[in-house]
Amino acid sequence: MDFHIFQTPEEASHSLARGIASLIKRCEVAGKRPVIGLATGRTPLALYRELVRMHREEGLSFRNVITFNLDEYHGLGREHPKSYWRFMHENLFDHLDILPENIHVPRGDIEPEDTVRECQEYEAAIADAGGIDLQILGIGRTGHIGFNEPGSGAHTRTRLVELDPVTRADAVADFGDLSAVPEMALTVGCGTILEARSIALMAWGASKATVVEKAFLGPVSDDVPASFLQDHPSVSLYLDEPAAELLAAGCEEKHHLSKD
Ligand code: GLP
Repeated sequence: MDFHIFQTPEEASHSLARGIASLIKRCEVAGKRPVIGLATGRTPLALYRELVRMHREEGLSFRNVITFNLDEYHGLGREHPKSYWRFMHENLFDHLDILPENIHVPRGDIEPEDTVRECQEYEAAIADAGGIDLQILGIGRTGHIGFNEPGSGAHTRTRLVELDPVTRADAVADFGDLSAVPEMALTVGCGTILEARSIALMAWGASKATVVEKAFLGPVSDDVPASFLQDHPSVSLYLDEPAAELLAAGCEEKHHLSKD
């Protein structure tokens, strides 16, 4: 696992954006279409701003890029102001030359009897695109990746899940009121995420320090689904100093113990 620690989320995001630009250019030279897994939440906003800037000012093209978002709130239609579909369009897709048919976000407004089919089709679309080259992730305070809450196994696939009370409480900032926060979501599984050829996880701020330490220094367990990333061959962490503080201290301690 590679750890990249930066002074600010902007510096970290710019570094990851340069990595994405070089993936896009490498694929172009190889005549392939890059497949990128995308996340929502506040964490990737600076990354998306930088990608938009690179598109506008440096001509970085997304015409050949295929994207798959991690998740969507259950019960929200695409045009709902808080849907992840809308979030992604407002913060990224509407400002790029990406083709609409190359954008994938799980549908939140499906009938219960269509859920299994929707989830299977989402998995099939990822497979048809050749799998994910780079999966972008944030991390929830419960240790979730996508909406894989504690208890989600390493082999889980795209499905309908119940949101943890901590996650719902964190979403009040977006929805204004707990009763407005959906209770369920569609999310790709931990197994789906772990099949990505490379993974970049971002975390900012002291409020993420405990979960970052648990996920990357603690035991690999479904109590903290992000800990499954420890077993993936190509994971890069992009952290700011406050988010990395406990992890860095824990690494130092482990290092001393192994020397004694
Ligand atoms: C959200 C998303 C996750 C995201 C996480 C952290 O609910 N489903 O993909 O990584 O929770 O959110 P934030 O970036 O706002 O801290």
